[in-house]
Amino acid sequence: MATTNGAVENGQPDRKPPALPRPVRSLEVEFTKIFINNEWHESKSGKKFATYNPSTLEKICEVEEGDKLDVDKAVEAAHAAFQRGSPWRRLDALGRGWLLHQLADLVERDRAILATLETMDTGKPFLHAFFIDLEGCIKTLRYFAGWADKIQGRTIPTDDNVVCFTRHEPIGVCGAITPWNFPLLMLVWKLAPALCCGNTIVVKPAEQTPLTALYLGSLIKEVGFPPGVVNIVPGFGPTVGAAISSHPHISKIAFTGSTEVGKLVKEAASRSNLKRVTLELGGKNPCIVCADADLDLAVECAHQGVFFNQGQCCTAASRVFVEEQIYPEFVRRSVEYAKKRPIGDPFDIRTEQGPQIDQKQFDKILDLIESGKKEGAKLECGGSAMEDRGLFIKPTVFSEVTDTMRIAKEEIFGPVQPILKFKNIEEVIKRANSLEYGLTAAVFTKNLDKALKLASALESGTVWINCYNAIYAQAPFGGFKMSGNGRELGEYALAEYTEVKTVTIKLDDKSP
Ligand code: NAI
Ligand code: MG
Repeated sequence: MATTNGAVENGQPDRKPPALPRPVRSLEVEFTKIFINNEWHESKSGKKFATYNPSTLEKICEVEEGDKLDVDKAVEAAHAAFQRGSPWRRLDALGRGWLLHQLADLVERDRAILATLETMDTGKPFLHAFFIDLEGCIKTLRYFAGWADKIQGRTIPTDDNVVCFTRHEPIGVCGAITPWNFPLLMLVWKLAPALCCGNTIVVKPAEQTPLTALYLGSLIKEVGFPPGVVNIVPGFGPTVGAAISSHPHISKIAFTGSTEVGKLVKEAASRSNLKRVTLELGGKNPCIVCADADLDLAVECAHQGVFFNQGQCCTAASRVFVEEQIYPEFVRRSVEYAKKRPIGDPFDIRTEQGPQIDQKQFDKILDLIESGKKEGAKLECGGSAMEDRGLFIKPTVFSEVTDTMRIAKEEIFGPVQPILKFKNIEEVIKRANSLEYGLTAAVFTKNLDKALKLASALESGTVWINCYNAIYAQAPFGGFKMSGNGRELGEYALAEYTEVKTVTIKLDDKSP
């Protein structure tokens, strides 16, 4: 409990949550150009592309469309900013942390603007953008700001008469290719550790959602990061994304998106200069509910776990395995929840679900829903788009789902909850681990032995016990198997943005 005088009691500081925010009405989009060397540029090709509000299907604005030549220019700037003796390289570690903290201050100052832009561009509920996406951005920036002056090598005892130590040095120019589901947050997950370790960066935001990344560019400039440290090139995957993946002066790349494109990025990285690659890809995440679970908690977490962000989460609880004794009751309560889920205008504070991001995702989800119906799953509710509402899809629950159905194997990335039945723990472990994905898993049980057995047996980068989407800046996040390579967040992320150098000094054996 927090005390009234701002002191710390029971380990919790007295931190006031921000007041209920209001979106910034009639927001003019200010930043739509390519950001290189702290300046705004038009595209070399002269092309622009439109970004849309998926809730209204209206065009928000046009953005400069980058291409290979713009990437070359951005990489040149990032490369120059990384050279020995540059202002960025001369800045000490504390200075880098200080800049990141100041960036966090400005993100906090402009939180309502950024949340408004994110809601316009993605269709996600404004309250989620404000309280979840922006909260995560601010905390991630502050977390890595704190690491900047704590990145340490080791002194290593060796055989001969030498002093041997390691230095953890920045890698160089990093590339970041980000998705549209958490546009600013996925960018900050990459930018904060990259800058904390002393790298420079070239960013490509998803073509559906470039606006918050570009706004962040304006804050980077305002804070006073040296020119070229951060560069942002909006545009499409096969042009800007491919140019970043294959650029010989980019030394490391961090990607979040589909498994299919993750493979392309890694191939291009191998073919060009063997740049280091971290990938955060898809998931088909098992959520295992044992008969002894707290049922209220499990039903709510499984519901939020799959429907949050319109189902567009790599962590989506999209295979719910429920023990047979409680199966009918679990399904009944899950359907109740789904039917009550408030859908509508993302700027309405009651809204929990907005539209899907675009027509391609919308069509993919409806196709998977149809496959579920055809393959014999029982449609409990939803199962179609909202009439006359563009890209909105009704919260959909399927029961009697079996492992071979497409809805039990493929990433749906939409508001669809497939519920499967299991009989015993060994069986559910095998079935949960049977796919090529391994991002997250969740377990609901009151039995500690069972929880720990499942935590060790499940092949996934994260296991949540009696909770869901519990993601913290301090804890590593990433995938086993085809869900990815490497880890974002936490101290583990630092290893992805540094090279280890071993320095060995031969001592003079004859010296007194
Ligand atoms: P995508 O993988 O095409 O998009 C992610 C990013 O990769 C975007 O910035 C895109 O422009 C870029 N990209 C596309 N082609 C590229 C290329 N050849 N080289 C380099 N970069 C490239 O994902 P998309 O098409 O938007 O969604 C398809 C599916 O991917 C979704 O239905 C979902 O299943 C999954 N997905 C997973 C995400 C996650 O958080 N892990 C995020 C977005 C999508
Ligand atoms: Mg958009």
